[in-house]
Amino acid sequence: MSAAADPPGGGPRPAASRAGRFWDRLGHLGYGADYNPEQWPPGVWREDMKLMREAGVNMVSVAIFGWAQLEPRPGHYEFGWLDEVLGLLHENGISACLATATASPPPWLARLYPQTLPETADGTRLMPGSRQHFCPSSPEYRAAAAALVERLARRYSAHPALAVWHVGNEFGCHVPACYCDRSAADFRRWLRDRYGDLDTLNERWSTAFWSQRYGEWEEIGVPRRMPAFANPAQQLDFARFCSDALLACFTAEREILRSITPGIPVTTNFLSLWKPVDFFAWAPHQDVIAHDSYPDPLDPATVSDAAFNYDLMRSLGGGRPWILMEQAPSAVNWRGHNAPKPPGVMRLWSYQALARGADAIMFFQWRASAGGAEKFHSALLPHGGTATRTWREASALGRELRKLGELRGTRVRADVAIMLDWPSWWALEQDSHPSQALLLTDQLRAHYKPLWEASIAADVVHPESSLAGYRLVVVPNLYLVTVQAVTGLHDYVSGGGHLLMSFFSGIVDENDRVRLGGYPAPFTDLLGLRIGEFWPLAPGVRAGAEFHDGQDRFTASFWADAIELAGAEPVASYRDGELSGVPALTRHRFGDGLAWYLGTRPGEAAMRRIVLAAARAAGAGPPVPGLPPGVEAVRRAGPRGSYLLLLNHSGDQADIGLPVPMADLLGAPGPRARILLPARGVAVLREPSHPKEP
Ligand code: GAL
Repeated sequence: MSAAADPPGGGPRPAASRAGRFWDRLGHLGYGADYNPEQWPPGVWREDMKLMREAGVNMVSVAIFGWAQLEPRPGHYEFGWLDEVLGLLHENGISACLATATASPPPWLARLYPQTLPETADGTRLMPGSRQHFCPSSPEYRAAAAALVERLARRYSAHPALAVWHVGNEFGCHVPACYCDRSAADFRRWLRDRYGDLDTLNERWSTAFWSQRYGEWEEIGVPRRMPAFANPAQQLDFARFCSDALLACFTAEREILRSITPGIPVTTNFLSLWKPVDFFAWAPHQDVIAHDSYPDPLDPATVSDAAFNYDLMRSLGGGRPWILMEQAPSAVNWRGHNAPKPPGVMRLWSYQALARGADAIMFFQWRASAGGAEKFHSALLPHGGTATRTWREASALGRELRKLGELRGTRVRADVAIMLDWPSWWALEQDSHPSQALLLTDQLRAHYKPLWEASIAADVVHPESSLAGYRLVVVPNLYLVTVQAVTGLHDYVSGGGHLLMSFFSGIVDENDRVRLGGYPAPFTDLLGLRIGEFWPLAPGVRAGAEFHDGQDRFTASFWADAIELAGAEPVASYRDGELSGVPALTRHRFGDGLAWYLGTRPGEAAMRRIVLAAARAAGAGPPVPGLPPGVEAVRRAGPRGSYLLLLNHSGDQADIGLPVPMADLLGAPGPRARILLPARGVAVLREPSHPKEP
């Protein structure tokens, strides 16, 4: 079940076959880390190789921050150290995820070309001495990066260690947007490409408002600091442009790599749900999806958030296996308070990624730095060396994963889709809205968490992707909608699909212009209602509400839509406050399907009830019934086998009865009908028979 499957009839895409060769070459599930040998003398490298073998490492990412060592002076390259490192890796059977090293330019670039440095919205120039100090629209940065990438690709094109290219690093992480004059000029070029002429831009940007009409392209700038609200369409297009400008840096490098090493897959590492970079726009440019995941051990919501990100990564790759490129072996260094992962948690969370489709589990980083800003970040090999808990757990996990090779290439099949769109997210969180506190991540979490708790698998889909095959589509706060998305949702529901949509959806078009005709104009017929007014509730104010079956009361907060029914039936209504008697949750038959609409933010228990009621009505459920609370279950299946992964996130032992006896690949031999899973325990079960491969 995939939104971005291979084109029908055309055989596998080149990207898929490049990736396929890569996975075949690994031969096992991938296991490894970022490896920064440039921080250590060569004597240490040999010890690294020995220990990597001991820990079951079969792939490392090399040279991510190696530019200054690879090109210490402009145009003067020193590849000797990398030759030696790649040679050692190959001799030890370890593949290289070779970085293009362009994420952190050397100091000489800023000295020679200060205009390569990025600027913030208030005109502050970000200086070298840290990392990612480049303006994506700088021709000098792009030229210097291209020259390095070409050298690297030519030098290592036939190197036996080279398995996959790692372009840059976490695009947009520290500098998601640059507001310098070069960026402004590039933005104008981008706008000309998008709109063709100024009349069109003026109309799309609603510049009749506040005397903003442009007479010349040169009058248009980036949304620097302004006296009052910047034009919303300008802000939205600037967000699109920033994501595209970074993507242009990625594709420029990828084109060089592809021309020199056409058989080697190219990727970059996506952050967790990262607002500045439109992952749906970037994903088709990746041969394999790679992700960096840093759940916070102190945050109780972290495990379901991580699950969401893993589902997103799987979905971005059309269901194909993805690489967990980075995670912390234990603590990070960059939060205000950095707690270690308690015993067993690193293993448990690694299996969570595996369960949700990752075929490689990697870390930041191999050996803990002695100096530099990340010296207190955990590593597989901590400052204390092999006599540490982290090393013991990490090396044991690497060896354990060797037992699970048969899972490679199996896929997760989801009955539920949760809809996400970056331009809608950008527009939703702009200023001058009914509430400034509406954050998409809060809403995604509220809708996703009940599914995760119930082990109901979900894909994350783009609004214009095919919804065929999903039983339930969940649409949290899709403020901006295209005509194609509107048509897709109508066709889906009229054809028998179930939809759960929540407030402030379907409000504007691609240019943040209101879709007129009464809110939510594109969906009034589908939902069988209209919204008279948006009714944000003051902070701390709660409205009592009740389900009409008399079973439950709940409190709603933050937002209420003044819903007027036009065909829908009320499922829950407010019982007090200004909106007493007004529906809070509705349901509407449309064609052969069912459309639920949620006009508020209920408390957690009511949200669980609502999401699970929609899932039940749609026929979506967990892979095994009766799971104890805190146990996550995911099925991965393929033509050769089907596997059930059970993860115990609770603090207690879980007693799990299985519908049929299954073999635990990590446990004692022989089939078992009952699994006793210790706290933080994991089971990987081979199912005797399985549903067809997705
Ligand atoms: C990532 C980054 C790594 C390292 C790590 C520390 O975001 O890609 O280079 O800085 O964070 O957690």
